[in-house]
Amino acid sequence: MSTAAPALDITEDILRLKKEKNAVILAHNYQSGDIQDLADYVGDSLGLAYKAKETDADVIVFCGVHFMAETAHIVNPTKTVILPDADAGCSLEQSCPADQLEAFLKENADKNYYVIAYINCSGGVKALCDVIVTSGNAVKIVEQAPADRPILFVPDENLGAWVMEQTGRKMDLWKGNCYVHVEFTQNSIQKIKDEYPDALVVAHPECPTAVRLLADEVCSTEKMVAYCKNAPVDNIIVVTESGMLHRLQKEAPDKNLIPGPTDKCACADCRYMKMNTLAKLHACLENLSPQVTMPEDLRKRAEAPLLLMLEQSK
Ligand code: 13P
Ligand code: SF4
Repeated sequence: MSTAAPALDITEDILRLKKEKNAVILAHNYQSGDIQDLADYVGDSLGLAYKAKETDADVIVFCGVHFMAETAHIVNPTKTVILPDADAGCSLEQSCPADQLEAFLKENADKNYYVIAYINCSGGVKALCDVIVTSGNAVKIVEQAPADRPILFVPDENLGAWVMEQTGRKMDLWKGNCYVHVEFTQNSIQKIKDEYPDALVVAHPECPTAVRLLADEVCSTEKMVAYCKNAPVDNIIVVTESGMLHRLQKEAPDKNLIPGPTDKCACADCRYMKMNTLAKLHACLENLSPQVTMPEDLRKRAEAPLLLMLEQSK
């Protein structure tokens, strides 16, 4: 009589490995529902950076994209930081290579720019900046920028435009964007608003201006949770990446959450965020690979503007 090995319950085995390796699982709000449900903490870039800095686990399993895992390494370098799929990048990060920013700053040295970088960028770009922001604290941090220096804001022109409106501070904007959020158009969001005339609209600040102007609230993914929970209506149109709907549905189960459509699709997926899967999460915990790390001198230069951000966003 043959005795087949029992099928592996991948969820249980991830939890077993997590305990064995003394690991913490941090997941961004755009991760797939099965990963969010397993994580110790689910949040936005700001919340995840704080959690990564504070953890006393030996291993940080970062279920998000590369710049987020790299940020965890920068703020907590003695930990082993692993990312289920090492190729999980970000179009914003790609739109501002460090060598191009360095060349631009050299060419414009006479301007003496105060350089503010959205956290969606490489460690090399962070190392060239004065301070970092996330969508959750950008307004607060820009308000604290020195009044006597011009600001260069990289790499998201849409977030930058929103922050300029909010703060009244003029900034020179790098021409980068998130390929997911620029898929939302005035037409696609107006159409869904027409279908649900009583709905409120919440949008991420990476959306283009014409889309933001149709929104009742513009905020980071984490702030969307409180907004939806407290909204005085049932129908809410959520204009951001589709993974957010899983988190929101759990936190605000009594609301009818409607994904913001694009002109081509009923919702928008980030192909980078969705590269992480339960199987890759299991494998990376088992092998403690792929690890995210960087040269120590570069890490130190990237750490200073990140620590300033954490200090200024308190
Ligand atoms: P949040 O910090 O608001 O979660 O945004 C991160 C991101 O990548 C949005 O596309
Ligand atoms: Fe980058 Fe856009 Fe994906 Fe966020 S949604 S990780 S900004 S590509």
